[in-house]
Amino acid sequence: MKKRIFSGAQPTGELHIGNYLGALKNWVALQHEYESFFCIVNLHAITLPQNPEVLKKKTLDLARIYLASGIDPQVSTVFIQADVAEHAELAWVLSCVSRMGELERMTQFKDKGKGNTERAGVGLFTYPVLMAADILLYQTDLVPVGKDQKQHLELSRDLAERFNRDYGDAFVIPEPFIPPVGASIQSLQDPQKKMSKSDENLNGSIFLLDDADTVTKKIKRAVTDSGTDIKFDESRPAINNLLTIYHLVTDKSVAECEANFDGKGYGQFKTELAEAVVEFLRPFQARVADYADAELEKILKDGAEKARAIARETLRDVYEKMGIVRLS
Ligand code: TYM
Repeated sequence: MKKRIFSGAQPTGELHIGNYLGALKNWVALQHEYESFFCIVNLHAITLPQNPEVLKKKTLDLARIYLASGIDPQVSTVFIQADVAEHAELAWVLSCVSRMGELERMTQFKDKGKGNTERAGVGLFTYPVLMAADILLYQTDLVPVGKDQKQHLELSRDLAERFNRDYGDAFVIPEPFIPPVGASIQSLQDPQKKMSKSDENLNGSIFLLDDADTVTKKIKRAVTDSGTDIKFDESRPAINNLLTIYHLVTDKSVAECEANFDGKGYGQFKTELAEAVVEFLRPFQARVADYADAELEKILKDGAEKARAIARETLRDVYEKMGIVRLS
């Protein structure tokens, strides 16, 4: 039996190269080795206000992005979170197992709630509980994510362990898969901050659908650090970040990247980086247009059906263990 992976992204904002390099690239690489579930987490999206029409469109657009990235619907299960009602049901159960204190420690809540807990939505607070439900419903072994999701993964493990201890084994304890390189791609404008869909400064992110001119302009404007060598160096976060992007989009080794830029200046480096990113995005962008709406909907409906069968089994077991009676 293959082990399972589960992961997902929110259909909000534009997906950027950080999402791809930190997460989607690994989904694609792992999908043949694992039985894979990739979810469009539209219920997570509404933890912050969304325009309903935009959210609808982004939900299908994100499915297109998954497929264009190389997720093979013949091999992996791709589906929309709201199509499997068990996600919301298990989230309720897990919220009864979660403690206020552990949710209050979640840094994403503190960041997105902007420190104002009076005004922050309750859904934003319980966001990681829904995420735990996503993962635990599928008896997931491995969760490929970027570094910013590490704390949420730890909570998922804690909730699974607590439930198993208090009611009997219902859940596999999931392991995070956080890649050694690319788990946190930083903003091009501020290398202390991660590249983010919600960054107001659009020059900080390279979006997967940016055209060649836009990519080139953003890279030319990217901040750099002092020093002139084009080398991987943790103490120079700006160049380190740009070189990491180069390394991952070209698949050249660290040594090859450094050798390539030996003796060259920032100007030349940025030109070559922009060319490499544009080359990398070109086939991806061509594939985004490949799927007609009807074909996409069929993939997502089939995916939801497969997902639902597993989710239903897990929830049935959870209710049984907790003494929740359902007569029909
Ligand atoms: P989301 O939509 O913010 O991001 C999708 C994935 O991209 C990764 N990521 C990054 N990786 C590297 N550098 C960056 N700058 C960067 N920014 C984002 C994220 O770590 C993520 O893997 N809570 C999740 C969605 C989710 C989920 C789940 C994930 C809901 N349920 C269950 C895994 C399992 C999120 O908001 O991702």
